[in-house]
Amino acid sequence: MEKREGEGEGEEEQVVNPWTVSAKGGGKIDYDKLIDQFGCQRIDQSLVDRIHRLTSRSPHVFLRRGVFFAHRDLNEILDAYERGEKFYLYTGRGPSSEALHLGHLIPFMFTKYLQEAFKVPLVIQLTDDEKCMWKNLTVEESQRLARENAKDIIACGFDVTRTFIFSDFDYVGGAFYKNMVKVGKCVTYNKVVGIFGFTGEDHIGKVSFPPVQAVPSFPSSFPHLFGGQDNLRCLIPCAIDQDPYFRMTRDVAPRIGYQKPALIESSFFPAMQGETGKMSASDPNSAIYVTDSAKEIKNKINRYAFSGGQDSIEKHRELGANLEVDIPFKYLSFFLDDDAKLEEIRKEYGAGRMLTGEVKQLLIQVLTGLVERHVGLGLL
Ligand code: TRP
Repeated sequence: MEKREGEGEGEEEQVVNPWTVSAKGGGKIDYDKLIDQFGCQRIDQSLVDRIHRLTSRSPHVFLRRGVFFAHRDLNEILDAYERGEKFYLYTGRGPSSEALHLGHLIPFMFTKYLQEAFKVPLVIQLTDDEKCMWKNLTVEESQRLARENAKDIIACGFDVTRTFIFSDFDYVGGAFYKNMVKVGKCVTYNKVVGIFGFTGEDHIGKVSFPPVQAVPSFPSSFPHLFGGQDNLRCLIPCAIDQDPYFRMTRDVAPRIGYQKPALIESSFFPAMQGETGKMSASDPNSAIYVTDSAKEIKNKINRYAFSGGQDSIEKHRELGANLEVDIPFKYLSFFLDDDAKLEEIRKEYGAGRMLTGEVKQLLIQVLTGLVERHVGLGLL
């Protein structure tokens, strides 16, 4: 049984941690509440404008549309950048499935944009050890999935001269391990129970994992990349369910003489069947994979993408689509770059002049293009 942080007797509270994402009463995640609970900051328009100015390019759709909506210390990173001090990016993936789906791609697409816009180094951690312990996979199977996923990640097109991708089973040791031990000494058992909700039934592998995800936040874990740059700052793009790891990391950092990593955090990409949590890797119809063919994408969207349109054309023309719950529209707001076109759909579809079929058609085009480009890059 997974113990859930903040779960009350009888009433279902919203739960967001690295292993469970579920909204109150099966509804939508309340992100404002999450910001309060976690103690992070909202990304406001002035921060987006500041990034625009500093990078001299239009901010990524995920920033313009609030997909990345929360942060910790992003202003400090930008202050330093403005003074001419670089930083590095750190992100990662727990390889639990054969191929990546669109939800998995979001942090990587965004990280690629950040790397390009700021011209900074990037480290990518594949936590094969984490998935081996949580998903009950063998060591060999987790390593195999890490290699498979690495291909999909590389296909995002990172700057090869500035990117280091590693798996824990291969890389943990040396300076990285020394930092793990330093972190471990600062975190009591009570503290990890409070942050992650471990119970007496959980094996000690789980309890000892958080330092592994913590230490890529410190440049001294990568002497071959950042030797002698111990004060280099780190910015972590991730989905907000990873926040507990980095709350712990930020708490420990000053005590071992390191800088706290900054964070830029995203909301979850909704499943095809509707927005109640994050897209699950265990139900193939709830997600579009980067390995799906054009035909599969078309079928999945036509069949499974939850529509906010009305039951009959007459009613639809009269009432319009409910965009709050409409998945095709939601997906377009993630992946259709053209702001004017998206606004037009919001107006026309919302007013019932546009039908679900037309919106789905456009989404199929956009996603097929995206997946084809992804596969194309992977073959290079
Ligand atoms: N725990 C993450 C997952 O299960 C993987 C991960 C490791 C990660 N380091 C990270 C994600 C840093 C974001 C940022 O997917």
